[in-house]
Amino acid sequence: MSTATITWQSPSNIALIKYWGKHGNQLPNNASLSLTLNQAATTTSLSLKKKRKKAEIEVDFTFEGEKNEKFAEKIIHYLESIKNEFPYLTANKLVIESANSFPHSAGIASSASSMSALALCILSQSMIADKKEYKPEEFYQKASYYARLGSGSAARSVFPDFSVWGKSTHIKAGNDKYAIQYPNKFNSDFNDLQDSILIVNEKEKSVSSRAGHALMNHHPMAAQRYKNAESRMKDILSALTKGDWELFCSTVETEALELHALMMTSNPSFILMKPGTLEIIERVRRFRNETKIPVCFTLDAGPNVHLIYPYFEKKQVRNFIQEELLTFCTKKKVIYDSMGNGPQLRIDE
Ligand code: DP6
Repeated sequence: MSTATITWQSPSNIALIKYWGKHGNQLPNNASLSLTLNQAATTTSLSLKKKRKKAEIEVDFTFEGEKNEKFAEKIIHYLESIKNEFPYLTANKLVIESANSFPHSAGIASSASSMSALALCILSQSMIADKKEYKPEEFYQKASYYARLGSGSAARSVFPDFSVWGKSTHIKAGNDKYAIQYPNKFNSDFNDLQDSILIVNEKEKSVSSRAGHALMNHHPMAAQRYKNAESRMKDILSALTKGDWELFCSTVETEALELHALMMTSNPSFILMKPGTLEIIERVRRFRNETKIPVCFTLDAGPNVHLIYPYFEKKQVRNFIQEELLTFCTKKKVIYDSMGNGPQLRIDE
């Protein structure tokens, strides 16, 4: 038996066109498009040990050096769902160690980075333990597929720059089973796109994304939402190709606000923005109008604000953050992130 330890560092991503609503086995109700991040990442390693009882999944899981029952349960549930496709998962005891580059309390969604890192480890280890063979393109496609089964947004984390997940009339290769790397050439204005995450509140989200997606099942605005997402996909593709910042900013902001509008009008209803979120939004819009600097905001299912802006305006926007926005951030916390190159592998024999 091989004793190789496989380690993958996999990034988080921020959706510009949001995935909200799913069906079947983790299939999205609309196509989404995301920016792969650079700093916010999970590093996970997987090694195998001998065990006696062959039939059951056995996991020794530690998160940042400590046992974590809640995460372990989620991982076991996930492994159970895919064990038939990877015989080594039941034949060995699995030793999994995981850590985030960002504080757990930072309010950053960690399921995208953690589930993609785990899926990548499982797939890499299957090439050794189960002697599977994959060509590079096939490897990432499968990694995205298995990441998706763990968390929808994780499907998008295995590719650099921008990633698209879901069927869309505007993207030929787009499909629901796995994400793809953004297939078009994007305008060089978007190279090294910046994302500064303003931490308005560090508390855990009051609605899990799983419960959140379920709210879309009976939402009175659902049908219109999916139409909007599809037409915004067209708009963002056009903005990315042409370097049209006005269209880019309006599309990204409308998506974020629509996500929150859907949550606010769900039954039960959730208001996840905080007063500081709105203060920041107002100031960002005012700053953009006054300076004509293309900076816009987007939101996850939470109160923290992601500011998206081009690399060439980094200095100006960072000054603006320091001078006007920091006061709305808890403990003046900001995470300065940017477009990333996708996951990285390490193998220790
Ligand atoms: C608002 O991927 O966390 O961040 O598939 O249930 O794990 P599950 O949901 P998840 O949902 C992400 C929702 C979102 C938008 C997005 O990332 O597209």
